Order: sequence, then structure tokens, then C-alpha cells
Amino acid sequence: MVHSSQVFIVALLALTVVNANPVVQQPASAQFTSAVSRFLRAFRSIMPCGYGDLPVMSPIVSPFYEFEHISEDFSVVGNVTNIRIQGIDGFQVLSASDYGKTGEAAYDVLFPKIQVLGFAEIDGFINIGGFKVPIQQNDVINEALVDLRFVGSYSFDNSLTNSSGLRMVNFRQTIYLAGAEFDNWNTLWNISTNNFWNRLMQSLLPLALEEIQPNITNILYQNFFVPKINDLLANVSMSELVSFLQIQAQLWENANCQAQ
Ligand SMILES: *[C@@H]1O[C@H](CO)[C@@H](O)[C@H](O)[C@H]1NC(C)=O
Ligand SMILES: *[C@@H]1O[C@H](CO)[C@@H](O)[C@H](O)[C@H]1NC(C)=O
Ligand SMILES: *[C@@H]1O[C@H](CO)[C@@H](O)[C@H](O)[C@H]1NC(C)=O
Ligand SMILES: *[C@@H]1O[C@H](CO)[C@@H](O)[C@H](O)[C@H]1NC(C)=O
Ligand SMILES: *[C@@H]1O[C@H](CO)[C@@H](O)[C@H](O)[C@H]1NC(C)=O
Repeated sequence: MVHSSQVFIVALLALTVVNANPVVQQPASAQFTSAVSRFLRAFRSIMPCGYGDLPVMSPIVSPFYEFEHISEDFSVVGNVTNIRIQGIDGFQVLSASDYGKTGEAAYDVLFPKIQVLGFAEIDGFINIGGFKVPIQQNDVINEALVDLRFVGSYSFDNSLTNSSGLRMVNFRQTIYLAGAEFDNWNTLWNISTNNFWNRLMQSLLPLALEEIQPNITNILYQNFFVPKINDLLANVSMSELVSFLQIQAQLWENANCQAQ
């Protein structure tokens, strides 16, 4: 004898299966989105000051940086002086979906302008079919990314190695760049050559980003980023994750960093 209430429950279960979000809603997932938002706000607030092992990120300054890469095909030796990157802390969260309600953490984050200033001295060559094309740069760097936007989403499922732990699934992200400003100055070049390269880079960079987009998504995220995150999350439950985000946010808020 089957009670109507049992039928009702079976019907409800069937309905949830049909509507199946493949993802289990973990306890505490209702707090996930607000915890992430608070974490990001607190993170942005400490960027001008740094905190513990985190360096100052607004601006990022590097007085002197040397690099050397030497191979058959490609060789660059050089250094960058007085690099200053500003605007990283100017990001705005344009939208974020409520993971607790939708089972999907979706976000839209915009950096209105990231400006890079500095000076570079580079010596080297690129080997193109046996012909060594010299690269010699003596550059004042002044370039900016305008409206760099990250739009993405992901969900959580149970970890494959620990059923109480988490695993990120269905991660997708697209990067948009509205424009780039290049006002670099190579002291080894004349005015028209400098203008030519700045205009070329200005138009090429957004296109280059579109070109490599599928590869960033498929190769970089799926093979590198997601497995790394999942290693970190394997022994962490949703409530532990939420409490970690809140505790860290609290510490940063208490640091009371005032933007200079
Ligand atoms: C920086 O790199 C350039 C090019 O290799 C080199 O000529 C110059 O001596 C370097 N400057 C310093 C301070 O190392
Ligand atoms: C600038 O340099 C380029 C490349 O060396 C040369 O072709 C061009 O004629 C020069 N322009 C001026 C105005 O000197
Ligand atoms: C993307 O990856 C494929 C396969 O590895 C490669 O053939 C292609 O050149 C890459 N495209 C770009 C723009 O990097
Ligand atoms: C998770 O726990 C297992 C078993 O204790 C351990 O082997 C594994 O290294 C842990 N993973 C991480 C990322 O801590
Ligand atoms: C599995 O994850 C839970 C949830 O955080 C954790 O408490 C537990 O220690 C983990 N198990 C192992 C074997 O690491």
C-alpha cells in the first residue's frame, strides 16, 4: 500500500532529477557568495598596504628586475627599472550570482584601467629560420589595459578523493579587453617608428587576446588552474571554506589599510 505522501515525495524527487543541477548543494553554500564578496572587498582594501606575506599590490613597484633567457632560437638579456603597475585595486564586481540559490557561482569582474610604467633595456635576438633578427630595446614603458573584464562561472561537487571535500567543476572564464593604450618610447628609434609600433600594438593586443582565448580556456584552465584548485579543496568542506574566507576577510578588514 503506497501512501499518497510517498507518491508525492517520489514525484518531487523525479522533479529534482529532471531539473538536475549535477551539483550537490553543500551545507553552508548559502553563505558562499556573500563570503567571497566580503573576501574580495577586504582583499582590495589591503592592496595599498600589503599584509603579512602579501606585498603591496597597489601600486606594484619593482625598482630593478633582471632577466636572461638564452637558447638557440631566442635570446633576451635585459633589465627593467622602476616598474610601476597601478589600477589592480580598481576592480569592480559588476555581478555575481548567488551560489546558494543557483548552484552556480558566476561573476563579472572589471578592471577599468591597469597602467604599466617603467623603463626597459633589452638585448637579444630571435632566430627565424637561421636568420638572427636582433632585438634591441631601450624603452620607456607607458602602456595601459582598458576595461579588462573577466566573466566566468563554476560549481562545486564532492571531491573524488574525499567525499566530504570539494571539487571545482564546470569552470569557464572569458577575458575581454576593450582597448589598450601604448605610449612606449624606444630611445633607439625615431618618432615615426615609435608611433608605428605603438599604433600596431594598440590594435594587435585585443586581437591577440581573442586569438589565444580558446587556448587559455582549454589548456591553461583545465590542465593547470582547475587541478591545482582541486588539490587545495580536496580535504576542505564548504563550511570550512566559507569560514576560511570570513576569517581571512575579518583579518584584512581589521588591518584598517587606508588607500594612499
Ligand atoms: C641592463 O641591461 C642592459 C642590456 O643588457 C645592459 O647594457 C645594462 O648594463 C644593464 N644595466 C644594469 C644596471 O644591469
Ligand atoms: C625612422 O626610422 C625608420 C627605420 O629605421 C626609417 O625607415 C625612417 O625613414 C625614419 N624616419 C624618419 C622621419 O627619420
Ligand atoms: C592553440 O592550441 C593549439 C593546439 O595546441 C595550437 O595548434 C594553436 O597554435 C594554439 N593557438 C594559439 C593562438 O596559441
Ligand atoms: C587530503 O587527505 C589525504 C588523506 O589524509 C592526504 O593523503 C592528502 O594529501 C590530502 N590532500 C591535501 C591537499 O592536503
Ligand atoms: C576529508 O575532508 C574533511 C572535510 O574537511 C576533513 O575534515 C577530513 O579530514 C578529510 N579526510 C581526510 C582523510 O583527509
